[in-house]
Amino acid sequence: MTPRALLALETSCDETAAAVVVDGSRVVSSVVSSQVALHEPFGGVVPEIAGRAHIELIGPVIEKALSEAGFNARGLATGERPRTGSGAQASTENGGSERIDAVTVTLGPGLAGSLLVGVSTAKALALAWQVPFVGVNHLEAHLFAPILESPEMEYPVVVLLVSGGHTMLLLMREPGVYRLLGQTLDDAAGEAFDKVSRFIGLGYPGGPAVQGAAVSGDPGSISFPRSMIESGFDFSFSGLKTSVVNYVRRSPDARVEDVAASFQEAVVEVLVTKAVRAAEAESATGICLAGGVAANGPLRERIGAACVQLGIRAHLPSVDMCTDNAAMVGAAGWWSLCNRGPTPLLAGADPNLALEFAG
Ligand code: KG4
Ligand code: ZN
Repeated sequence: MTPRALLALETSCDETAAAVVVDGSRVVSSVVSSQVALHEPFGGVVPEIAGRAHIELIGPVIEKALSEAGFNARGLATGERPRTGSGAQASTENGGSERIDAVTVTLGPGLAGSLLVGVSTAKALALAWQVPFVGVNHLEAHLFAPILESPEMEYPVVVLLVSGGHTMLLLMREPGVYRLLGQTLDDAAGEAFDKVSRFIGLGYPGGPAVQGAAVSGDPGSISFPRSMIESGFDFSFSGLKTSVVNYVRRSPDARVEDVAASFQEAVVEVLVTKAVRAAEAESATGICLAGGVAANGPLRERIGAACVQLGIRAHLPSVDMCTDNAAMVGAAGWWSLCNRGPTPLLAGADPNLALEFAG
């Protein structure tokens, strides 16, 4: 029997998230509880605090996601109208599902203490409700954000996956079949945003802070390096970060806004140049953005404009779908359950879980 309604959990880093996704593509509820305020005073995510916060938040977040989707704490449909629905009855909003058919969760990569909370909770619910357990790779979940929001996607597409921990260019031939074209040799793009933000006093989380400050800065005012832009599909951002640090030390009177704008411009130019080069080399039908950095306004605009010029599609997930959420986990988990089957309950959280590539 094809599974219909999945409860999905995401606790790999500092967002506690739960969602109910029906038929792999209908997001009936999606709840994200951010821990930003808890980590802000420390300038970054503190793993110990994140793990403890997930333990406190996971119960209420799951309960909210279930009830908004018209399910009770036993995973059964209440028959009530979903609270966040657009006015339709529960039977149409959640596709007439009578129960949650499976529980899916991010197995890794991520912070060990954070992953453990989601994975143990998902296993407990799957056991209690006697439904399949499905573990998904967090990176693959990010790849399902554009798939979820562009159901008409034609393949192959080039995906630029840019998050706090990863920067990869992939060729996606179909869901589940990925070829690695290139990746960062040192820092991830999001990591560079976070480190630069902290250094120039814009705080955490760095991406939105740098983007915000950059609005009133001049992106052409400081010429930061575009490492490895000339050729290939690999990236390097640690030299850029060092260059920002050195510049600010040499020019303490530089406007923070100009530094932010010039840094952002350097990152975006490298990312867009490589994504476009990959799309041309692979005759892709489009470019997808995925991961937290895909929320970046200038990156989205430039990828959009480049795709218009190339005559291909730009698949830009909504901003909420770029950063960590459980809806993308639900979409990936549904696909995985249908195509790979359930995950054994013995499979544990894996902080270093790798994405599998096809030749
Ligand atoms: O995917 P994500 O939510 O978590 C990980 O899996 O890492 O990505 C978080 C990263 C952080 O480094 C954050 O600074 C960055 O995404 N980010 C952004 C923006 N919003 C989030 N980077 C640039 N511009 C943004 N608007
Ligand atoms: Zn992520």
